[in-house]
Amino acid sequence: MASLSMTQIRAGNWSSGFGLNWAGKVQGGSRSRVGFKVFASETQATEPDLSVTVNGLHMPNPFVIGSGPPGTNYTVMKRAFDEGWGAVIAKTVSLDAAKVINVTPRYARLRASANGSAKGEIIGWENIELISDRPLETMLKEFKQLKEEYPDRILIGSIMEEYNKAAWEELIDRVEQTGVDALEINFSCPHGMPERKMGAAVGQDCALLEEVCGWINAKATIPVWAKMTPNITDISQPARVALSSGSEGVSAINTIMSVMGINLNTLRPEPCVEGYSTPGGYSARAVHPIALGKVMSIAKMMKSEFDSENYSLSAIGGVETGGDAAEFILLGANTVQVCTGVMMHGYGLVNKLCLELKDFMKKHNFTSIEDFRGASLEYFTTHTELVRRQQEAIQKRKAIKKGLQSDKDWTGDGFVKESESMVSN
Ligand SMILES: Cc1cc2nc3c(=O)[nH]c(=O)nc-3n(C[C@H](O)[C@H](O)[C@H](O)COP(=O)(O)O)c2cc1C
Repeated sequence: MASLSMTQIRAGNWSSGFGLNWAGKVQGGSRSRVGFKVFASETQATEPDLSVTVNGLHMPNPFVIGSGPPGTNYTVMKRAFDEGWGAVIAKTVSLDAAKVINVTPRYARLRASANGSAKGEIIGWENIELISDRPLETMLKEFKQLKEEYPDRILIGSIMEEYNKAAWEELIDRVEQTGVDALEINFSCPHGMPERKMGAAVGQDCALLEEVCGWINAKATIPVWAKMTPNITDISQPARVALSSGSEGVSAINTIMSVMGINLNTLRPEPCVEGYSTPGGYSARAVHPIALGKVMSIAKMMKSEFDSENYSLSAIGGVETGGDAAEFILLGANTVQVCTGVMMHGYGLVNKLCLELKDFMKKHNFTSIEDFRGASLEYFTTHTELVRRQQEAIQKRKAIKKGLQSDKDWTGDGFVKESESMVSN
């Protein structure tokens, strides 16, 4: 059974990883899967440096293709590398794709206008898509080809299996042989196959998660990120279990369980397949505030319990601008994944994201991602603490008697100063 060891629990400062430059540690005679996290700037002093190194994986920028349609085959993953994405996480694979049967339509969208007018901007996206339905052998060949053609770029295999140790071990072994740089474990697929203890069925059950994570981390020889489901009361609990069971990182969030809507003409739910539907996973801009909340909760737990040099956080949910990404990084994320944003805007989105993130960094004189990573986390506290702080501030303001309490207090001599004391700008 996995437990928190002293080497896993951090003792120092969350942001103390800046500038550290060690390329992996030796444990029990073999090289650890954990490498260094952040290099110093590699570019000119004038331009902010977007590059990050996470669990030993060096990326030109923190923008990662999230598992889903944008990483579903060789052609689209190649496109992602060519456009400049920092890393690509492929669509989730399992041993037997024949068991994965998708339906169409499988998406439904929410627009920001009354009753889903076709002209409104898309703000929410529901899918009932399963993991990859392509044969594993085909996907593995494509991973291998991509790694041969882009040896310096980061390709991450996303995997999901049944509650069966041998099956997980076989899948890990076969995916690792293609040369992928890391594994993301899909403990979070919200629909399909819970009866086979797959996806969210594992991520929602900490005991099961600990056991399966233990199998995975005993087998894997490359970094492992555990992808968390938001469909749980306290997401920091499974995140803690995943990290203390040997995973180097957590990714969050996968999609949020949802029903997109009911068609008021046909009275049938959407997306409608032969007159019926099933709850799906919600993504895109509408989920961004929920994702920020979940990532904040994980980041707080990681800050107090895990060493920031060896454990990483990949934030996901509703990213379409550099500002959205900056928010996740300000909470402590090392990388930021985008899935639905790419489905809506295409692979070129990464150029806009990089420009906007650089603009944000220039505005604040940040030269590297590590300069501001986690900087906003300390400003989250309890409501009780907010009340205490506000009462203290009111007392202080009263003490300096700023402004006049009543019109009877105006004086002739101090009139101009008294006027100024009540101006806001
Ligand atoms: C159509 C679709 C398919 C997805 N398939 C997968 C998948 O196979 N594996 C996985 O881990 N996440 C999958 N996801 C979840 C995304 O990777 C991501 O966690 C989620 O959509 C939130 O991010 P976003 O708002 O940027 O899309 C899928 C999402 C969508 C929209």
